Amino acid sequence: MANQVLYRKYRPSTFAEIVGQEHVVRTLTNALLLDKVAHAYLFNGPRGTGKTTTARLLARYLNCAVLSAKRSEAMITRASAEAFSEGGFQSVCSKENACINCSSFFLGNHPDLIEIDAASNRGIDEIRALKEGIRFSPVQAPFKFFIVDEVHMLTKEAFNALLKTLEEPPKHAIFVLATTEIHKVPATVISRCQRFDFRRLNLDEIKNRLSSIAQQEKVAADDEALELIASYADGSQRDAESLLDQVMAFNDRHITLADVASVLGLIGLPFIRSFVDALALKNAPRALSLVGEAIEGGYDVEQFLKVLISYLRDVLLLAINPQVIEYIAKRSGNDYAQAALAHAQMLQPNILTGLIERFLEAGKQIKYSPSPQLPLEVAVVELLSS
Ligand SMILES: Nc1ncnc2c1ncn2[C@@H]1O[C@H](COP(=O)(O)OP(=O)(O)OP(=O)(O)O)[C@@H](O)[C@H]1O
Ligand SMILES: [Mg+2]
Ligand SMILES: [Zn+2]
Repeated sequence: MANQVLYRKYRPSTFAEIVGQEHVVRTLTNALLLDKVAHAYLFNGPRGTGKTTTARLLARYLNCAVLSAKRSEAMITRASAEAFSEGGFQSVCSKENACINCSSFFLGNHPDLIEIDAASNRGIDEIRALKEGIRFSPVQAPFKFFIVDEVHMLTKEAFNALLKTLEEPPKHAIFVLATTEIHKVPATVISRCQRFDFRRLNLDEIKNRLSSIAQQEKVAADDEALELIASYADGSQRDAESLLDQVMAFNDRHITLADVASVLGLIGLPFIRSFVDALALKNAPRALSLVGEAIEGGYDVEQFLKVLISYLRDVLLLAINPQVIEYIAKRSGNDYAQAALAHAQMLQPNILTGLIERFLEAGKQIKYSPSPQLPLEVAVVELLSS
């Protein structure tokens, strides 16, 4: 499966691989070890943060024959559960050596793990099938496990049907309802479930996991490149991994900041360098035609100004103190630092502050302007004709 998308390929198959969500993992592993798994859970949280993955892991370990033997043998107490959790779950069944239920989990075809996507057809047929299917005993495992994804999409009728099953679930049935929009889930349903809130992952959590995936894929990746991906993913590990996938399709040997920027459609260094060259040489036609090119290329004016202003700021810092080059090179790469240094030698600090102030003003005017690039064009003409 060489072409499998990254976020499927690297879907965690143990609790230890789940990033963030410590409170959820801790509570669920304890419940598993103490034999206190509830009949219905509600997993709430932003997209791509591990809800479906965690639900599948709960199903995996609840039905794992090895774990359940250990549990009844050891009569696990809260203290020994904590101790076991440290690494014990990984020692229970691996891909190479698994009980029948874990092997079905690894193959992704467990007959007693039923996933329902409420978003498709708003769940009407699915919930009906569930109502009928739920009475039958599990085929292979002790428990039949139902994961209802995007549960907030269910119709009123489907919710009512679901509620009935949640009120009197058969002993062998466990539910995980997952949602990104809990305010659309009826209170009657919420109150029947044990609720967990998943959180957005932070920049470092996302970056570290990306870096370990890149390593396993044998791709070199610059730190700032992964950081840019992570910041674009806005807390979603899946979004980060699909972005990494796109960047790898573009360059699968060594990923740089420039690669990520161009996949994201951000303004690259060569472009900014030409634009500042035109400013320094007071070449208004050239500067205006670059603005036109950027807009035609689909760049967002605000994004353009943001990148331009932060570049001019670096140029200003270098004009005042060339020694900051080390810091700038470390943060944004050597090419960037050298380009900025060259501009620092062409432009006086007072000219640079004038440019920055005028572009900041243009940024504020975009909101009220009939066309987004107009304030930028006016700024260019004013700056270069004075
Ligand atoms: N907390 C996490 N730790 C590690 N990997 C994660 C985490 N969250 C998401 N991922 C990665 O993203 C992929 C998708 O995650 P998952 O399907 O569990 O997200 P979800 O919360 O169910 O999202 P959605 O709300 O869109 O259904 C996983 O296969 C995994 O590669
Ligand atoms: Mg999901
Ligand atoms: Zn097992």
